[in-house]
Amino acid sequence: MALISWFSLALVAIATSCTLASPVRGPLETRASNDGAFSPPYYPAPKGGWVSNWAEAYGKAHHIVSNMTLAEKVNLTTGTGIFMGPCAGQTGSVPRFGIPNICLHDSPLGVRNTDHNTAFPAGITVGATFDKELMYERGVGLGEEARGKGVNVLLGPSVGPMGRKPRGGRNWEGFGFDPVLQAIGGAQTIKGMQSTGAIASLKHLVGNEQEMHRMSSVVTQGYSSNIDDRTLHEFYLWPFAEGVRAEVGSVMIAYNDVNKSACSQNSKLINGILKDELGFQGFVVTDWLAHIGGVSSALAGLDMSMPGDGAIPLFGNSYWGYELSRSVLNGSVPVDRLNDMATRILAVWFKMGQDQNYPLPNFSSNTDDEKGLLYPGALVSPIGVVNQFVNVQADHNITARAVARDAITLLKNEGDLLPLRRNDSLKIFGSDAGPDPQGLNSCADKGCNRGVLTMGWGSGTAKLPYLITPQDAIADISPTAEFHLSDSFPSSVTANPDDIAIVFINSDSGENFITVEGNPGDRTSAGLHAWHNGDDLVKAAAEKFSNVVVVIHTVGPIILEEWVDLEPVKAVLIAHLPGQEAGNSLTDVLFGDYSPSGHLPYTIPYQESNYPASVGLLQQPFGQIQDDYTEGLYIDYRHFLREQITPRYPFGHGLSYTTFDFSEPSISIVTLLDTAYPPSRPDKGPVPTYPTNIPAASEAIWPSNFPSIWRYLYPYLNKADATAAAANSTKKYPYPEGYSTTPKPAPRAGGAEGGNPALFEVAFSVEVTVTNTGHRQGRAVAQLYVELPDSLGVETPSRQLRQFEKTKILQSGESETLTLEITRKDVSIWDVVVQDWKAPVRGDGLKIYVGESVLDERVECVVGGECSTL
Ligand SMILES: *[C@@H]1O[C@H](CO)[C@@H](O)[C@H](O)[C@H]1NC(C)=O
Ligand SMILES: *[C@@H]1O[C@H](CO)[C@@H](O)[C@H](O)[C@H]1NC(C)=O
Ligand SMILES: *[C@@H]1O[C@H](CO)[C@@H](O)[C@H](O)[C@H]1NC(C)=O
Ligand SMILES: *[C@@H]1O[C@H](CO)[C@@H](O)[C@H](O)[C@H]1NC(C)=O
Ligand SMILES: *[C@@H]1O[C@H](CO)[C@@H](O)[C@H](O)[C@H]1NC(C)=O
Ligand SMILES: *[C@@H]1O[C@H](CO)[C@@H](O)[C@H](O)[C@H]1NC(C)=O
Ligand SMILES: *[C@@H]1O[C@H](CO)[C@@H](O)[C@H](O)[C@H]1NC(C)=O
Ligand SMILES: *[C@@H]1O[C@H](CO)[C@@H](O)[C@H](O)[C@H]1NC(C)=O
Repeated sequence: MALISWFSLALVAIATSCTLASPVRGPLETRASNDGAFSPPYYPAPKGGWVSNWAEAYGKAHHIVSNMTLAEKVNLTTGTGIFMGPCAGQTGSVPRFGIPNICLHDSPLGVRNTDHNTAFPAGITVGATFDKELMYERGVGLGEEARGKGVNVLLGPSVGPMGRKPRGGRNWEGFGFDPVLQAIGGAQTIKGMQSTGAIASLKHLVGNEQEMHRMSSVVTQGYSSNIDDRTLHEFYLWPFAEGVRAEVGSVMIAYNDVNKSACSQNSKLINGILKDELGFQGFVVTDWLAHIGGVSSALAGLDMSMPGDGAIPLFGNSYWGYELSRSVLNGSVPVDRLNDMATRILAVWFKMGQDQNYPLPNFSSNTDDEKGLLYPGALVSPIGVVNQFVNVQADHNITARAVARDAITLLKNEGDLLPLRRNDSLKIFGSDAGPDPQGLNSCADKGCNRGVLTMGWGSGTAKLPYLITPQDAIADISPTAEFHLSDSFPSSVTANPDDIAIVFINSDSGENFITVEGNPGDRTSAGLHAWHNGDDLVKAAAEKFSNVVVVIHTVGPIILEEWVDLEPVKAVLIAHLPGQEAGNSLTDVLFGDYSPSGHLPYTIPYQESNYPASVGLLQQPFGQIQDDYTEGLYIDYRHFLREQITPRYPFGHGLSYTTFDFSEPSISIVTLLDTAYPPSRPDKGPVPTYPTNIPAASEAIWPSNFPSIWRYLYPYLNKADATAAAANSTKKYPYPEGYSTTPKPAPRAGGAEGGNPALFEVAFSVEVTVTNTGHRQGRAVAQLYVELPDSLGVETPSRQLRQFEKTKILQSGESETLTLEITRKDVSIWDVVVQDWKAPVRGDGLKIYVGESVLDERVECVVGGECSTL
């Protein structure tokens, strides 16, 4: 019965936060505590509504919130409890104003735990396309499916983790190991999703770079990511700033601490950086069960608690709900703050048009059956129709296949072994080419690695509605292909001289609440190696066959050294995590209907020791891990360049079946950077105002004869509690140090969504003509990297991706001129003293490179000078 599995899942969720760390292997380091880490206080929470684009939505929200009771406002802020409705979480409703329970549900690649949906390629696959249009189209598909199922807030995209830890479990949910690739992937996804009326929730803010110890237990506290101000701004925060600029409706905070202050109540992070400096107008929601304090989190800027439960889920307790009502009545949380929470949430709902015919949930993530418990968390629950099996797929399979295909990254192709001919004699090896022998979706949340790897595991998944395996798609084209879908090389196989062996291997990872083959989310035991003895399988094939193609499905960097230089290994493809169209997208490329056009969204090293020591996984039996970001900006290729370590394959690398020439480069100044710092920010617009007097206790008292559900979370207090809280409203709450109700001066780096609008004016525009000089059609990606001048006074990475554009399909001999625009922010550093972005005046000394990878530069431009081809 589905209910049982949901309860056992809940117990797993509880267990992960109550037991000692899972046994782990691999190079894990213990880190001594860093007493210096500190997150400065930043109060009060800035109110939303001051950006003109949002004025209409805030006006509507203001009108309603003005008339709401205390209990109604609290209802909007707090989930009804885990398993207390069809979605991963839902807020209370406000029937008096026609506001339903707002449904929040996973995931970044599709609607999780439902049917008749699309399982899109994962974020890392999307990043590898370097294709802004496909990023947007996939976002539209995600939004349409969310809407069709009645999901108000789809929990994605993910732009953190950022790949700081190559073994980290959830890197694959995001778009790559670079802030600009993440930023563009995230912003395009948000715009696509929100164009449908679905609300995106950008996650996880911030520093959730490893899975193990992200949450607290009885003996350990969730780790602290200790990030210096410059690294935060120039690296980890960058994609969040772009997401805010794309008007994301919601931001989800991370489980871990930043600078020893839990993200869910880190006032500097939420009030200071997100809401004031970045001008975020939407609402801030916790990660599931990441809420750890009531008054503290409200003051620090949190707007919504999900799924609403307190320290121990399913017990009917909450830090908010009735406790938030109490803390407003007793004066500890200013009613102003609650008004701002409710207004932010409703303003997003209005801005996306969810007041106009937005469907209610017509699915349940708790069961596959048509009928089921309406509130499984209640133990005693009414039963009703919960799944209407609404088909939301439309033609999204076209986008899913196009993304998976255009992400396929050709690392190597000796003697042009690829593309294959349709009559080639093919022998296929590896379980990764086939189906899950135990059936489609046979393990919950993809918590197993069987058959072709289409996505990692955890909450960032969706069920496969169907799966085209590589086996299906190859057999369709090549009736003579022979399949040996085992991970040990068959001794009986005979090799003919013309045979081509295709070996499928993979590497998986996921979220910490499931351990797969000894890997508790992070790749602790597998490391960066292929799973299931994949290296041995390739070596065995290379011993027998003189032409071997290796296809890799992987969550991230993987070490290829045992076989990549073997003479028979002629071709290597990374197909990333392709989703339901795994097979079709692969054969589109293998047989040459399309040239591969994906590029690596991360570096592939020779060995794991090529990375800085500070990015290894950390564990510690007691207390709190202090994860100091000592490597600063030097993540992935930035590190390899600084240490002059040659990677096996550089960031951005990806071959085609054809070749491209870059010619006629030119640079023009669009906006002159005549000052180092941007012009002064605009002033904030007006925000909604409300009376500040504490509401009457009667506004939060249980209505008489209310048909309450056991353990469900409500905003109500009994009469004695409500009047007692109101009677104590003059007692002083022990506010945190630095607490104040006087608004801070507006930060100079702010001024609009994403920051000072002057930061986003185009400063330089680079044009380059790309010509297909080979004999087959193909698409090229022009990647623009900047090298900032020493005159900025700080060390900067020698190359930083700041823009990219992809050509259409170019026929042999055909050209396309690409325009790559970069902004003031793109050429600035974060000045930690001035607290603003500092650019080289006029761009003096700035160098710009355009190429096909970070190491394959084709064009160099010196600002104020010329561009030349290299
Ligand atoms: C974290 O600490 C650094 C000092 O080490 C400080 O510059 C930065 O502002 C802090 N960030 C947050 C979010 O607390
Ligand atoms: C809210 O109350 C005001 C008067 O206080 C009234 O004019 C307005 O129509 C009410 N709005 C709604 C949505 O009930
Ligand atoms: C709060 O939400 C619940 C449903 O989640 C609803 O039953 C109740 O009526 C709501 N309370 C108010 C005051 O609107
Ligand atoms: C007010 O209520 C909240 C929630 O129960 C509680 O945490 C806080 O300590 C109370 N404040 C005072 C001053 O008693
Ligand atoms: C579920 O969605 C379908 C299609 O979007 C819609 O027709 C139906 O009314 C929805 N169900 C509910 C309960 O809103
Ligand atoms: C998408 O699905 C439809 C209907 O199932 C099918 O006809 C079509 O060929 C598929 N498109 C692609 C690109 O696979
Ligand atoms: C496959 O077909 C091509 C022509 O398309 C032909 O030149 C080649 O000899 C054929 N190979 C085999 C193994 O039949
Ligand atoms: C109100 O204050 C009194 C005396 O200080 C205390 O006994 C009581 O517990 C308080 N009640 C609440 C709800 O905070």
